Amino acid sequence: MEMKSITIVGCGPGGEQYVTPAARRAIEEARVLVGAARLLEMFPESGAERIVVTADIPRVLDAIADRYQENQVAVLVTGDPGLCSLARPVIRRFGRAGCRVIPGISSVHAAFASLGLDWYGARILSAHDTAPPMEPAALAADDTIALLAGNPANAGWVEALTATLLASHDIFLCENLTLPGESIRQLTHLTTPMKLASRSILIFKRKEDHA
Ligand SMILES: C[S@@+](CC[C@H](N)C(=O)[O-])C[C@H]1O[C@@H](n2cnc3c(N)ncnc32)[C@H](O)[C@@H]1O
Repeated sequence: MEMKSITIVGCGPGGEQYVTPAARRAIEEARVLVGAARLLEMFPESGAERIVVTADIPRVLDAIADRYQENQVAVLVTGDPGLCSLARPVIRRFGRAGCRVIPGISSVHAAFASLGLDWYGARILSAHDTAPPMEPAALAADDTIALLAGNPANAGWVEALTATLLASHDIFLCENLTLPGESIRQLTHLTTPMKLASRSILIFKRKEDHA
């Protein structure tokens, strides 16, 4: 297979033991690492040049463009690249054919696994978008929802969704999964304002849908 010089690497939800051997190998082979500071810190042994990702994504893409024809570039993302990650703008700029993607263990995988729950058919939503995903009432018919909730921008909407589904669904707050401060608990009532860690997932599971 043709060697691609941009590799997007899923680094898992945070714990070192959740970084796959394939991800470690891609990082070892890279001459340039691109990623959030806390992801770069996970790989101190790499002697590669490091480009820290900030909110200025066009600058990051330009930095990759300046380097990828001469160097193996690894773009590190949290969890899996296919879920709300830097993979999307990178692939939009450099093309699918030019990028290799190494899957990672998503925080959503980790959340369902920590609860022992099946996630077939789950709707996956993000509170990261500038606008809330949809009216909470429109989600009442869903049996299983995973909400990437680690962003206070839509805190009011997250509270409204929790209030709407509290009677029909069991609601679990999973924070800092696989990390030392991991916390997994069921929410039995709504306290406002809801305090959510920056790494938080809410799982909504219809009550009669699981044991
Ligand atoms: C920009 S998204 C990236 C998702 C990532 N690509 C994935 O597959 O997990 C960031 C969101 O992922 C979730 N997240 C990432 N790491 C987490 C962790 N260790 N524990 C709980 N949630 C986490 C939070 O919902 C956070 O708001």
